[in-house]
Amino acid sequence: MRVKPTPLPKSAPAAATILRSILRLPMSPPPSDLDDLLCSPARQCSGESESEPEPEAHVPIQLNGCGLSRADRAWAYWTALGRPSLVVAPMVDNSELPFRMLCRKYGARAAYTPMLHSRIFTENEKYRSQEFTTCKEDRPLFVQFCANDPDILLEAAKRVEPFCDYVDINLGCPQRIARRGNYGAFLMDNLPLVKSLVQKLANNLHVPVSCKIRVFPKLEDTLSYARMLEGAGCSLLAVHGRTRDEKDGKKFRANWAAIKAVKNTVSIPVLANGNIRHMDDVMDCLAETGCEGVLSAESLLENPALFTSYRTAEWVVRDEEGSSRDGKLDQAELLVEYLKFCEMYPVPWRMIRSHVHKLLGDWFRVHPEIREELNAQSRLTFDFLYEMVDRLRSKGLRIPLYRKDESVQCMRASSTG
Ligand SMILES: Cc1cc2nc3c(=O)[nH]c(=O)nc-3n(C[C@H](O)[C@H](O)[C@H](O)COP(=O)(O)O)c2cc1C
Repeated sequence: MRVKPTPLPKSAPAAATILRSILRLPMSPPPSDLDDLLCSPARQCSGESESEPEPEAHVPIQLNGCGLSRADRAWAYWTALGRPSLVVAPMVDNSELPFRMLCRKYGARAAYTPMLHSRIFTENEKYRSQEFTTCKEDRPLFVQFCANDPDILLEAAKRVEPFCDYVDINLGCPQRIARRGNYGAFLMDNLPLVKSLVQKLANNLHVPVSCKIRVFPKLEDTLSYARMLEGAGCSLLAVHGRTRDEKDGKKFRANWAAIKAVKNTVSIPVLANGNIRHMDDVMDCLAETGCEGVLSAESLLENPALFTSYRTAEWVVRDEEGSSRDGKLDQAELLVEYLKFCEMYPVPWRMIRSHVHKLLGDWFRVHPEIREELNAQSRLTFDFLYEMVDRLRSKGLRIPLYRKDESVQCMRASSTG
Protein backbone atom coordinates (compact mmCIF):
# COMPACT_ATOMS: atom_id res chain seq x y z
CA MET A 1 0.00 0.00 0.00
CA ARG A 2 1.21 3.53 -0.71
CA VAL A 3 0.28 6.45 1.47
CA LYS A 4 0.50 10.13 0.77
CA PRO A 5 2.77 12.19 3.03
CA THR A 6 0.77 13.88 5.79
CA PRO A 7 -0.77 17.03 4.29
CA LEU A 8 0.23 20.35 5.79
CA PRO A 9 -2.42 21.79 8.08
CA LYS A 10 -4.20 24.68 6.39
CA SER A 11 -4.11 26.73 9.54
CA ALA A 12 -0.48 26.53 10.61
CA PRO A 13 -0.29 30.23 11.58
CA ALA A 14 -3.42 29.87 13.70
CA ALA A 15 -1.98 26.73 15.25
CA ALA A 16 1.22 28.63 15.96
CA THR A 17 -0.76 31.36 17.71
CA ILE A 18 -2.63 28.82 19.83
CA LEU A 19 0.61 27.09 20.65
CA ARG A 20 2.29 30.32 21.68
CA SER A 21 -0.47 30.98 24.14
CA ILE A 22 -0.38 27.39 25.40
CA LEU A 23 3.33 27.65 25.91
CA ARG A 24 3.08 31.17 27.31
CA LEU A 25 5.59 32.44 24.83
CA PRO A 26 5.68 36.14 24.00
CA MET A 27 3.37 36.81 21.05
CA SER A 28 5.68 39.37 19.59
CA PRO A 29 8.19 39.34 18.06
CA PRO A 30 7.92 35.81 16.63
CA PRO A 31 11.16 33.81 16.83
CA SER A 32 11.81 34.05 13.10
CA ASP A 33 12.21 37.83 13.34
CA LEU A 34 15.22 37.22 15.50
CA ASP A 35 16.86 35.59 12.52
CA ASP A 36 17.28 38.99 10.96
CA LEU A 37 19.81 39.72 13.62
CA LEU A 38 21.90 36.72 12.74
CA CYS A 39 21.74 36.53 9.03
CA SER A 40 21.40 39.78 7.26
CA PRO A 41 23.40 39.17 4.07
CA ALA A 42 25.70 42.04 5.06
CA ARG A 43 26.79 40.19 8.16
CA GLN A 44 27.10 36.95 6.27
CA CYS A 45 29.30 38.44 3.63
CA SER A 46 31.53 40.59 5.76
CA GLY A 47 33.45 37.68 7.23
CA GLU A 48 34.20 39.91 10.20
CA SER A 49 34.08 38.42 13.62
CA GLU A 50 31.34 40.54 15.05
CA SER A 51 29.84 40.28 18.46
CA GLU A 52 26.91 37.93 18.39
CA PRO A 53 23.30 39.06 18.59
CA GLU A 54 21.86 39.02 22.06
CA PRO A 55 19.00 36.54 22.17
CA GLU A 56 15.78 38.08 23.41
CA ALA A 57 14.52 37.00 26.78
CA HIS A 58 11.84 34.34 26.50
CA VAL A 59 9.45 32.95 29.01
CA PRO A 60 10.61 29.38 29.63
CA ILE A 61 8.18 26.63 28.76
CA GLN A 62 6.41 25.31 31.84
CA LEU A 63 6.46 21.66 30.95
CA ASN A 64 4.01 20.50 33.53
CA GLY A 65 1.78 23.45 34.14
CA CYS A 66 -0.65 23.96 31.26
CA GLY A 67 -3.02 21.06 31.52
CA LEU A 68 -1.48 19.41 28.47
CA SER A 69 0.69 16.33 28.71
CA ARG A 70 4.24 16.54 27.41
CA ALA A 71 3.28 14.39 24.44
CA ASP A 72 0.33 16.70 23.65
CA ARG A 73 2.70 19.65 23.71
CA ALA A 74 5.11 17.82 21.45
CA TRP A 75 2.29 17.20 18.97
CA ALA A 76 0.93 20.74 19.22
CA TYR A 77 4.37 22.09 18.45
CA TRP A 78 4.95 19.68 15.57
CA THR A 79 1.57 20.65 14.12
CA ALA A 80 2.29 24.35 14.53
CA LEU A 81 5.46 23.85 12.50
CA GLY A 82 3.37 22.41 9.68
CA ARG A 83 4.23 18.74 10.30
CA PRO A 84 7.35 18.88 8.14
CA SER A 85 7.61 15.33 6.86
CA LEU A 86 10.49 15.63 4.35
CA VAL A 87 13.64 16.48 6.21
CA VAL A 88 17.30 17.08 5.33
CA ALA A 89 19.34 14.92 7.72
CA PRO A 90 22.24 16.35 9.72
CA MET A 91 25.51 16.02 7.81
CA VAL A 92 28.87 17.34 8.98
CA ASP A 93 30.24 19.74 6.36
CA ASN A 94 27.27 18.98 4.12
CA SER A 95 23.94 20.19 5.56
CA GLU A 96 25.16 23.77 5.80
CA LEU A 97 22.95 26.77 5.02
CA PRO A 98 23.34 26.96 1.19
CA PHE A 99 22.69 23.23 0.83
CA ARG A 100 19.69 23.42 3.15
CA MET A 101 18.32 26.29 1.08
CA LEU A 102 18.75 24.32 -2.13
CA CYS A 103 16.96 21.30 -0.65
CA ARG A 104 14.18 23.52 0.70
CA LYS A 105 13.72 24.98 -2.77
CA TYR A 106 13.27 21.41 -4.02
CA GLY A 107 10.75 20.16 -1.51
CA ALA A 108 12.47 19.66 1.85
CA ARG A 109 10.12 20.85 4.59
CA ALA A 110 12.71 21.07 7.36
CA ALA A 111 16.43 20.61 7.86
CA TYR A 112 19.06 19.82 10.44
CA THR A 113 22.33 21.71 10.71
CA PRO A 114 25.51 19.67 10.63
CA MET A 115 26.51 18.37 14.05
CA LEU A 116 28.11 21.13 16.11
CA HIS A 117 30.52 20.33 18.92
CA SER A 118 28.93 21.85 22.02
CA ARG A 119 32.15 22.56 23.90
CA ILE A 120 33.92 24.17 20.96
CA PHE A 121 30.74 26.09 20.19
CA THR A 122 30.73 27.65 23.64
CA GLU A 123 34.44 28.46 23.60
CA ASN A 124 35.29 29.57 20.10
CA GLU A 125 33.63 32.45 18.29
CA LYS A 126 35.27 31.66 14.95
CA TYR A 127 33.85 28.13 15.09
CA ARG A 128 30.41 29.55 15.88
CA SER A 129 30.39 32.06 13.07
CA GLN A 130 31.77 29.65 10.47
CA GLU A 131 29.89 26.51 11.38
CA PHE A 132 26.48 27.91 12.26
CA THR A 133 24.81 30.29 9.87
CA THR A 134 21.14 30.62 9.17
CA CYS A 135 18.64 33.05 7.68
CA LYS A 136 15.00 33.94 7.88
CA GLU A 137 13.93 31.42 5.23
CA ASP A 138 15.92 28.61 6.84
CA ARG A 139 13.04 27.26 8.95
CA PRO A 140 11.95 24.92 10.39
CA LEU A 141 15.51 24.35 11.55
CA PHE A 142 16.92 21.71 13.89
CA VAL A 143 20.30 22.64 15.35
CA GLN A 144 22.26 19.54 16.27
CA PHE A 145 24.93 19.27 18.96
CA CYS A 146 27.12 16.50 20.20
CA ALA A 147 27.80 16.66 23.90
CA ASN A 148 28.65 14.74 27.03
CA ASP A 149 28.30 17.50 29.61
CA PRO A 150 24.78 18.79 30.35
CA ASP A 151 25.91 22.26 31.47
CA ILE A 152 28.07 22.82 28.40
CA LEU A 153 25.31 21.51 26.15
CA LEU A 154 22.84 23.92 27.71
CA GLU A 155 25.23 26.84 27.28
CA ALA A 156 25.66 25.99 23.60
CA ALA A 157 21.94 25.42 23.10
CA LYS A 158 21.04 28.77 24.68
CA ARG A 159 23.06 30.52 22.00
CA VAL A 160 21.07 29.00 19.14
CA GLU A 161 17.58 28.63 20.56
CA PRO A 162 16.30 31.97 19.23
CA PHE A 163 17.20 30.86 15.71
CA CYS A 164 15.83 27.34 15.55
CA ASP A 165 12.78 25.17 16.14
CA TYR A 166 14.42 22.21 17.89
CA VAL A 167 17.74 21.75 19.59
CA ASP A 168 18.83 18.24 18.66
CA ILE A 169 21.22 15.91 20.45
CA ASN A 170 23.37 13.66 18.29
CA LEU A 171 23.18 10.20 19.82
CA GLY A 172 23.99 8.36 16.61
CA CYS A 173 27.46 9.25 15.38
CA PRO A 174 29.41 5.96 15.13
CA GLN A 175 32.75 7.36 13.94
CA ARG A 176 36.08 6.86 15.68
CA ILE A 177 36.23 10.56 16.52
CA ALA A 178 32.96 10.16 18.47
CA ARG A 179 34.41 7.19 20.35
CA ARG A 180 37.46 9.26 21.28
CA GLY A 181 35.34 12.27 22.23
CA ASN A 182 32.77 10.12 24.04
CA TYR A 183 29.69 11.38 22.25
CA GLY A 184 27.21 10.33 19.57
CA ALA A 185 26.42 6.61 19.48
CA PHE A 186 29.02 5.89 22.18
CA LEU A 187 26.69 7.44 24.73
CA MET A 188 24.53 4.35 24.20
CA ASP A 189 26.91 2.82 26.76
CA ASN A 190 26.00 5.49 29.33
CA LEU A 191 22.26 5.99 29.33
CA PRO A 192 22.12 7.89 32.64
CA LEU A 193 24.32 10.55 31.01
CA VAL A 194 22.05 10.65 27.96
CA LYS A 195 19.08 11.11 30.25
CA SER A 196 20.73 14.01 32.04
CA LEU A 197 21.58 15.71 28.73
CA VAL A 198 17.98 15.54 27.56
CA GLN A 199 16.56 16.60 30.91
CA LYS A 200 18.90 19.56 31.14
CA LEU A 201 17.72 20.94 27.81
CA ALA A 202 14.07 20.02 28.25
CA ASN A 203 13.91 21.79 31.61
CA ASN A 204 15.79 24.91 30.63
CA LEU A 205 15.13 25.73 26.98
CA HIS A 206 12.04 27.27 25.49
CA VAL A 207 12.40 25.35 22.23
CA PRO A 208 11.80 21.61 22.40
CA VAL A 209 14.54 19.00 22.41
CA SER A 210 14.86 16.37 19.73
CA CYS A 211 17.18 13.37 19.65
CA LYS A 212 18.64 11.40 16.77
CA ILE A 213 19.42 7.83 17.70
CA ARG A 214 20.61 4.56 16.21
CA VAL A 215 19.01 1.25 17.10
CA PHE A 216 20.51 -1.32 19.47
CA PRO A 217 21.07 -4.87 18.17
CA LYS A 218 18.24 -6.02 20.49
CA LEU A 219 14.83 -4.51 19.82
CA GLU A 220 13.84 -4.44 23.50
CA ASP A 221 16.91 -2.30 24.28
CA THR A 222 15.96 0.14 21.53
CA LEU A 223 12.42 0.41 22.84
CA SER A 224 13.39 1.06 26.43
CA TYR A 225 15.97 3.60 25.19
CA ALA A 226 13.26 5.44 23.23
CA ARG A 227 10.90 5.40 26.22
CA MET A 228 13.66 6.74 28.46
CA LEU A 229 14.30 9.62 26.03
CA GLU A 230 10.61 10.45 25.91
CA GLY A 231 10.40 10.37 29.69
CA ALA A 232 13.42 12.66 29.97
CA GLY A 233 11.68 15.31 27.86
CA CYS A 234 12.53 14.54 24.23
CA SER A 235 9.78 16.00 22.02
CA LEU A 236 10.77 14.51 18.66
CA LEU A 237 12.75 11.39 17.93
CA ALA A 238 14.60 10.61 14.71
CA VAL A 239 15.50 6.94 14.46
CA HIS A 240 18.27 5.79 12.15
CA GLY A 241 17.45 2.13 11.64
CA ARG A 242 21.04 0.89 11.75
CA THR A 243 23.13 -0.15 14.74
CA ARG A 244 26.33 1.57 15.84
CA ASP A 245 28.36 -1.13 14.09
CA GLU A 246 26.44 -0.87 10.83
CA LYS A 247 28.36 2.13 9.62
CA ASP A 248 28.19 1.57 5.89
CA GLY A 249 24.78 2.70 4.70
CA LYS A 250 25.28 1.04 1.29
CA LYS A 251 26.10 -2.32 2.88
CA PHE A 252 23.45 -2.46 5.61
CA ARG A 253 19.77 -1.81 5.01
CA ALA A 254 18.11 0.25 7.69
CA ASN A 255 15.69 -1.71 9.83
CA TRP A 256 12.30 -0.12 9.25
CA ALA A 257 10.59 -2.75 11.41
CA ALA A 258 12.60 -1.53 14.42
CA ILE A 259 11.67 2.06 13.58
CA LYS A 260 8.01 1.07 13.42
CA ALA A 261 8.30 -0.59 16.84
CA VAL A 262 9.80 2.62 18.28
CA LYS A 263 7.00 4.64 16.70
CA ASN A 264 4.48 2.34 18.37
CA THR A 265 6.08 2.49 21.79
CA VAL A 266 6.39 6.27 22.25
CA SER A 267 3.75 8.99 22.11
CA ILE A 268 5.85 11.77 20.58
CA PRO A 269 6.39 12.37 16.83
CA VAL A 270 8.96 10.03 15.26
CA LEU A 271 10.99 10.45 12.07
CA ALA A 272 12.48 7.51 10.16
CA ASN A 273 16.00 7.53 8.78
CA GLY A 274 17.71 5.14 6.37
CA ASN A 275 17.12 3.80 2.86
CA ILE A 276 15.47 6.93 1.47
CA ARG A 277 16.76 7.18 -2.10
CA HIS A 278 13.73 8.52 -3.99
CA MET A 279 10.08 9.37 -3.38
CA ASP A 280 8.86 5.78 -3.68
CA ASP A 281 11.08 5.00 -0.68
CA VAL A 282 9.51 7.93 1.18
CA MET A 283 6.01 6.59 0.56
CA ASP A 284 6.99 3.01 1.41
CA CYS A 285 8.78 4.08 4.58
CA LEU A 286 5.89 6.20 5.84
CA ALA A 287 3.46 3.37 5.10
CA GLU A 288 5.64 0.71 6.70
CA THR A 289 6.74 2.57 9.82
CA GLY A 290 3.77 4.89 10.42
CA CYS A 291 6.27 7.66 11.17
CA GLU A 292 5.54 11.37 10.80
CA GLY A 293 8.31 11.90 8.30
CA VAL A 294 11.65 10.83 6.93
CA LEU A 295 15.23 12.07 6.96
CA SER A 296 17.47 11.60 3.95
CA ALA A 297 21.24 12.13 3.86
CA GLU A 298 23.51 10.44 1.30
CA SER A 299 20.95 10.38 -1.50
CA LEU A 300 20.17 14.07 -1.08
CA LEU A 301 23.84 14.88 -1.57
CA GLU A 302 23.70 13.42 -5.08
CA ASN A 303 20.17 14.57 -5.71
CA PRO A 304 19.00 17.58 -3.68
CA ALA A 305 15.76 17.52 -5.74
CA LEU A 306 14.83 14.08 -4.38
CA PHE A 307 11.88 15.45 -2.42
CA THR A 308 10.31 16.86 -5.59
CA SER A 309 10.31 13.40 -7.14
CA TYR A 310 13.48 13.68 -9.21
CA ARG A 311 15.63 10.58 -9.26
CA THR A 312 19.12 9.77 -10.48
CA ALA A 313 19.61 7.31 -13.35
CA GLU A 314 20.34 4.58 -10.80
CA TRP A 315 16.69 4.64 -9.70
CA VAL A 316 15.03 4.99 -13.07
CA VAL A 317 11.79 3.03 -13.17
CA ARG A 318 11.29 0.55 -15.94
CA ASP A 319 8.82 -1.96 -14.59
CA GLU A 320 5.13 -2.65 -14.29
CA GLU A 321 4.81 0.28 -11.86
CA GLY A 322 5.58 2.78 -14.60
CA SER A 323 8.53 4.34 -16.37
CA SER A 324 10.74 7.40 -15.94
CA ARG A 325 11.18 10.36 -18.22
CA ASP A 326 13.82 13.04 -18.49
CA GLY A 327 12.95 15.53 -15.73
CA LYS A 328 14.55 18.47 -17.59
CA LEU A 329 16.85 19.09 -14.66
CA ASP A 330 20.37 17.85 -14.01
CA GLN A 331 22.99 17.86 -11.28
CA ALA A 332 25.09 20.53 -12.99
CA GLU A 333 22.11 22.88 -12.89
CA LEU A 334 21.59 22.07 -9.22
CA LEU A 335 25.27 22.76 -8.59
CA VAL A 336 24.96 26.19 -10.19
CA GLU A 337 21.94 26.92 -7.99
CA TYR A 338 23.90 25.73 -4.95
CA LEU A 339 26.84 27.99 -5.83
CA LYS A 340 24.50 30.96 -6.08
CA PHE A 341 23.27 30.22 -2.56
CA CYS A 342 26.93 30.02 -1.46
CA GLU A 343 27.58 33.46 -2.92
CA MET A 344 24.65 34.74 -0.90
CA TYR A 345 25.49 32.82 2.27
CA PRO A 346 29.25 32.22 2.43
CA VAL A 347 30.55 28.95 3.85
CA PRO A 348 34.04 27.40 4.05
CA TRP A 349 35.36 26.18 0.69
CA ARG A 350 35.82 22.64 2.00
CA MET A 351 32.02 22.34 2.16
CA ILE A 352 31.59 23.64 -1.38
CA ARG A 353 34.28 21.30 -2.68
CA SER A 354 32.55 18.35 -1.07
CA HIS A 355 29.22 19.20 -2.74
CA VAL A 356 30.88 19.65 -6.14
CA HIS A 357 32.25 16.11 -5.93
CA LYS A 358 28.96 14.61 -4.73
CA LEU A 359 26.83 16.42 -7.31
CA LEU A 360 29.12 15.87 -10.27
CA GLY A 361 30.43 12.39 -9.41
CA ASP A 362 28.70 10.82 -12.44
CA TRP A 363 29.88 13.62 -14.71
CA PHE A 364 33.49 13.27 -13.52
CA ARG A 365 33.39 9.54 -14.25
CA VAL A 366 32.86 10.46 -17.90
CA HIS A 367 35.45 13.27 -17.83
CA PRO A 368 38.02 12.42 -15.12
CA GLU A 369 40.40 15.05 -16.50
CA ILE A 370 38.05 17.78 -15.28
CA ARG A 371 37.95 16.23 -11.81
CA GLU A 372 41.76 16.24 -11.81
CA GLU A 373 41.82 19.91 -12.74
CA LEU A 374 39.45 20.60 -9.87
CA ASN A 375 41.60 18.61 -7.45
CA ALA A 376 44.67 20.54 -8.56
CA GLN A 377 43.16 23.85 -7.40
CA SER A 378 44.45 24.59 -3.94
CA ARG A 379 42.13 27.63 -3.83
CA LEU A 380 38.74 27.60 -5.46
CA THR A 381 36.81 30.52 -6.88
CA PHE A 382 33.22 30.78 -8.03
CA ASP A 383 34.43 31.77 -11.52
CA PHE A 384 36.47 28.58 -11.77
CA LEU A 385 33.49 26.46 -10.75
CA TYR A 386 30.99 28.13 -13.09
CA GLU A 387 33.48 27.74 -15.96
CA MET A 388 34.01 24.11 -15.06
CA VAL A 389 30.28 23.46 -15.41
CA ASP A 390 30.31 25.28 -18.78
CA ARG A 391 33.22 23.11 -19.94
CA LEU A 392 31.41 19.90 -18.99
CA ARG A 393 28.38 21.09 -20.92
CA SER A 394 30.44 22.17 -23.93
CA LYS A 395 31.67 18.59 -24.22
CA GLY A 396 28.09 17.68 -25.01
CA LEU A 397 27.61 15.92 -21.72
CA ARG A 398 24.20 15.80 -20.09
CA ILE A 399 23.14 13.35 -17.41
CA PRO A 400 19.51 14.09 -16.62
CA LEU A 401 17.61 13.55 -13.45
CA TYR A 402 14.43 11.61 -14.10
CA ARG A 403 10.87 11.75 -12.89
CA LYS A 404 8.55 8.83 -12.69
CA ASP A 405 6.00 9.08 -15.45
CA GLU A 406 2.74 8.90 -13.54
CA SER A 407 0.72 9.16 -16.77
CA VAL A 408 2.10 5.78 -17.89
CA GLN A 409 1.08 4.36 -14.55
CA CYS A 410 -2.42 5.82 -14.90
CA MET A 411 -2.79 4.49 -18.44
CA ARG A 412 -1.72 1.03 -17.27
CA ALA A 413 -4.13 1.20 -14.33
CA SER A 414 -7.05 2.24 -16.52
CA SER A 415 -6.29 -0.32 -19.24
CA THR A 416 -6.24 -3.08 -16.65
CA GLY A 417 -9.65 -1.98 -15.53
C1 LIG B 1 28.45 13.27 4.86
C2 LIG B 1 27.62 12.82 6.03
C3 LIG B 1 27.72 13.51 7.23
C4 LIG B 1 26.92 13.12 8.32
N1 LIG B 1 26.95 13.85 9.47
C5 LIG B 1 26.05 13.59 10.46
C6 LIG B 1 25.89 14.48 11.55
O1 LIG B 1 26.52 15.53 11.63
N2 LIG B 1 25.00 14.15 12.52
C7 LIG B 1 24.24 13.01 12.44
O2 LIG B 1 23.43 12.76 13.34
N3 LIG B 1 24.36 12.17 11.41
C8 LIG B 1 25.22 12.45 10.41
N4 LIG B 1 25.27 11.65 9.30
C9 LIG B 1 24.35 10.50 9.23
C10 LIG B 1 23.07 10.89 8.49
O3 LIG B 1 22.39 11.95 9.13
C11 LIG B 1 22.13 9.70 8.37
O4 LIG B 1 21.74 9.29 9.67
C12 LIG B 1 22.75 8.50 7.68
O5 LIG B 1 23.54 8.89 6.57
C13 LIG B 1 21.66 7.54 7.21
O6 LIG B 1 20.79 8.19 6.30
P1 LIG B 1 20.85 7.86 4.73
O7 LIG B 1 20.62 6.36 4.62
O8 LIG B 1 19.75 8.67 4.13
O9 LIG B 1 22.20 8.26 4.25
C14 LIG B 1 26.07 12.00 8.21
C15 LIG B 1 26.00 11.32 7.00
C16 LIG B 1 26.75 11.72 5.92
C17 LIG B 1 26.62 10.98 4.62
